[in-house]
Amino acid sequence: MSSRSPCPTPADWRESNRANWDERVPLHTAGSYYGLDGFRAGKDPLRAFELAEVGDVTGKSLLHLQCHLGTDTLSWARHGAARVVGLDFSEPAVAVARGLAADLGLGPERAEFVTSDVYDAACALPDSTYEIV
Ligand SMILES: C[S@@+](CC[C@H](N)C(=O)[O-])C[C@H]1O[C@@H](n2cnc3c(N)ncnc32)[C@H](O)[C@@H]1O
Repeated sequence: MSSRSPCPTPADWRESNRANWDERVPLHTAGSYYGLDGFRAGKDPLRAFELAEVGDVTGKSLLHLQCHLGTDTLSWARHGAARVVGLDFSEPAVAVARGLAADLGLGPERAEFVTSDVYDAACALPDSTYEIV
């Protein structure tokens, strides 16, 4: 039996995926699921199991891959992480994340967002190590 998938992969699968995520950004920014006004006002989107599994982030550096609008990334800063970095390949998502960081008064030394494919992360990230990924 062949190990090749019977389903052909479109040559532009990555670009199609990225375009799809780009399209979602204005919907997610305006909608209630991400609730950005509530987030700005202090609502914590992190779930109890995430807080329990990641543990105390106080003073630590944290990298969040595929961070989307950055709400989870920034929440870790609110929980005390000294430095958070979010990475996503959707430029509009990263633009929203940077805007939220500014709204929260977190400068790039505390919360930085990078536009990159996750497969290129090792070359795109500003720091070579993180205590939590
Ligand atoms: C489901 S969302 C993540 C949601 C996020 N964990 C949160 O709770 O806000 C998936 C994210 O992965 C990003 N993404 C998908 N494939 C990617 C890739 N190859 N490189 C970088 N980001 C990617 C999308 O742009 C999207 O923002």
